Amino acid sequence: MNLPKIELHLHLEGAAPPAFIRGLAREKSIDISGIFAEDGSYAYRDFRHFLKVYEAATSVLTGPEEYRRLTLAVLEESAASGVVYSETFLSPDFCGGRDLGAWREHLHAIEEAAAEAERTMGITLRAIVTPIRHFGPDKAKETALCAAETAGRFVTGFGLAGDETVGKPRDFAWSFDMAREAGLRLTCHAGEWGGPDSIRDALRDLRVERIGHGVRAIEDLALVDEMAERGIVLECCPGSNIALGIYPGWRKHPIGELYRREVKVTVSTDDPPFFHTTMAREYDRLAEAFDWDEGVFRTIARTALDAAFCDPDTRARIA
Ligand code: ADE
Ligand code: ZN
Repeated sequence: MNLPKIELHLHLEGAAPPAFIRGLAREKSIDISGIFAEDGSYAYRDFRHFLKVYEAATSVLTGPEEYRRLTLAVLEESAASGVVYSETFLSPDFCGGRDLGAWREHLHAIEEAAAEAERTMGITLRAIVTPIRHFGPDKAKETALCAAETAGRFVTGFGLAGDETVGKPRDFAWSFDMAREAGLRLTCHAGEWGGPDSIRDALRDLRVERIGHGVRAIEDLALVDEMAERGIVLECCPGSNIALGIYPGWRKHPIGELYRREVKVTVSTDDPPFFHTTMAREYDRLAEAFDWDEGVFRTIARTALDAAFCDPDTRARIA
């Protein structure tokens, strides 16, 4: 579908084309051949293994210059899919190892690449700093300090990614409080590998305004009604959920029912090459599965723009 698209949920390293990662590995003589299938795509067995493959791919991104090149490659793919505004998760764990000086250098390179992409491709990028849940709350605190120090026009959000089955949202409350005090907007992966209680915990203990995925709310209709009433925005990534085996196919994905029940759903790709998807493909599959017309996609893009972690001038320019 040829509409301007707004993407709220994209992991920068997870968006790295496999050929890009293979090329860097070759340049640096790092052997990560085990993470690729015969056809050259990323190969993983399940979610935990996906996280390992993700971290192995990321191991070749060893400095700001690699992140500059990565940002341009990723934004080129997004722009080709019709994306005009994107928010990406950035983890100091990968970009500089939570050292503030190194983090600033990585961020600077990413921001410069984003400015170049805005000039040449007409796509705007904002960043959500994101600790990795299974790395634990102490590393998350260091990440929150990195986020607070660099909050501003480009770094506008704070989130939590990684293995949702490890720990509880309240373990990260200190980090989210620090990010909120620094003026950052908040989101958290929940209701992907955890059920409705995981979403309730994130809403109550981290006071987030958006939920990454959140689709398993559908297992508790009282929660669905509450989210609709409170205007909680879901960053849905249906292709990701299907590729990782949470739902058996597009028609079985809860986004259709959540939309019908007036929850504020949006559409993103998560880690597109890992899941053989693009924003254009997500739109096409959803149109097919739920018979959604252009009007529905316009509503979804409007919801996403209203929920975007950007300043009003940026929002007005994109609208
Ligand atoms: N990091 C990258 N992709 C992720 C996902 N789908 N869930 C949690 N953490 C992630
Ligand atoms: Zn994600």
